[in-house]
Amino acid sequence: MMLGHSQLAGLGPRARVLDEAFVGAVLDGLSMAQKTLPCRYFYDARGSDLFEQITELEEYYPMRTEASILKAHAAALMGGATSDSVLVEFGSGSSRKTEFLLAELPPGAAYVPIDVSPDALAQARVRLARRYPALDIRPVVGDFSDAVRFPQGLRGRPRVGFFPGSTIGNLHRPDAAKLLSRFKTLLGGSGRLIIGVDLKKDKTILENAYNDRLGVTAEFNLNLLARINREIEPAFDLEAFTHTALYNDLEGRIEMHLVSQLDQAFEIRGRPFRMRAGESIHTENSYKYAASEFQALAERAGWSPASVRTDPRGLFSVHVLT
Ligand code: AVJ
Repeated sequence: MMLGHSQLAGLGPRARVLDEAFVGAVLDGLSMAQKTLPCRYFYDARGSDLFEQITELEEYYPMRTEASILKAHAAALMGGATSDSVLVEFGSGSSRKTEFLLAELPPGAAYVPIDVSPDALAQARVRLARRYPALDIRPVVGDFSDAVRFPQGLRGRPRVGFFPGSTIGNLHRPDAAKLLSRFKTLLGGSGRLIIGVDLKKDKTILENAYNDRLGVTAEFNLNLLARINREIEPAFDLEAFTHTALYNDLEGRIEMHLVSQLDQAFEIRGRPFRMRAGESIHTENSYKYAASEFQALAERAGWSPASVRTDPRGLFSVHVLT
């Protein structure tokens, strides 16, 4: 059965283009020796909802720990912000954590949340406009890793970038450095960047954060196959895969995989694929950085590390780069 065409017919040309990018990424990833699926496709409506649930799990410390650091140090992090300043957030989602920083912006300052989801941007705008009436909010719909069109009228004003959540950890180190230099170009010569980075730590804490007892992370991981079933064609039996997350010491990263429970074959867009029992699809990397290690990476990308703050337990870090 093909779900694709009739379902997509009403969605217009933009949805079609995105869908084809998804199909291409799926076919390419599954054709590799180590099967892979890009983690950016976790976040459809269901996946975004599951990720919200992950951030509330006891084992998943990154979000709440980062929020505690932002809350404790908001004034210092935003030190020097003027009514001219523009806070630019890359991948803003609900903009919840950003409120600690927004509270430190003087009247007249602007906030540019960048996100792929127009719905998330619209909702955040309504909430923030009520809470911060003096804030000039200029949402931009787009993928922060592409060139974004910066709002007219804000050009020439000093920019502070904000990239929370340790999203940088999803990228291999060379790509992380490239993204940091892209941010540098966008933020300009006097620009600053506030970035949240998950720290290296005890392996058990790390592995538990990605193997929660309630199984929410497992469902989040499996949703990638469910999404393929929904949006491309019903190719996968979800029962035939299990979630695993392991810390790879050598690479300094958590890896999430979906492991085939049996020898199986499936087909997507007429392309045949086979997997042996125990073989996996690698779905995500989440790199962890010691503070000095991240500073070295930032320097390679042309930034100067200005400060780094952590929580009392040393779980998470918030860097300021200038
Ligand atoms: C949103 C990329 C920071 O790597 O910890 C959470 C995504 N994956 N649980 C992370 C995620 C599994 C998360 N980031």
